[in-house]
Amino acid sequence: MIPLPEDLLQRLAAAARLASAHAYAPYSRFRVGAACVAGSGRVYSGANVENASYGLTICAERNALFQAVAAGERDISAIVVYTPTPAPTTPCGACRQVLCEFGAAIRVVCCCDGDEVREFASGELLPDRFQL
Ligand code: THU
Repeated sequence: MIPLPEDLLQRLAAAARLASAHAYAPYSRFRVGAACVAGSGRVYSGANVENASYGLTICAERNALFQAVAAGERDISAIVVYTPTPAPTTPCGACRQVLCEFGAAIRVVCCCDGDEVREFASGELLPDRFQL
């Protein structure tokens, strides 16, 4: 995994936490935020956006990543996910597959309201994933 400066990780964590305030989560009330950094050095953030038909909900991780990709970025080095929980939670299966689309060495950092932080490489989160 590409080493990332601690201050950048702190910046991403702050952006992810801020983004969670914009979550649209009237059904689960679970407000998630994510922020990723791309090759340009720019930070992109996103929150989960739910839908009455539940299955159309998009997670914070995919929203942040798609913001980056839609801005022309391809080289994503890290994503931080924030959940308002006492312990970190890890990305869902769909987000794992989508993260791996942009590389197996993306640093995935999961933070929460507690002190524990969990870190993974994207590829480690989804072994034997579908690939074309
Ligand atoms: N959610 C995320 O945004 N990211 C995750 O890693 C897991 C779940 C969202 C989807 C849904 O809006 C809510 O959290 C409850 O599942």
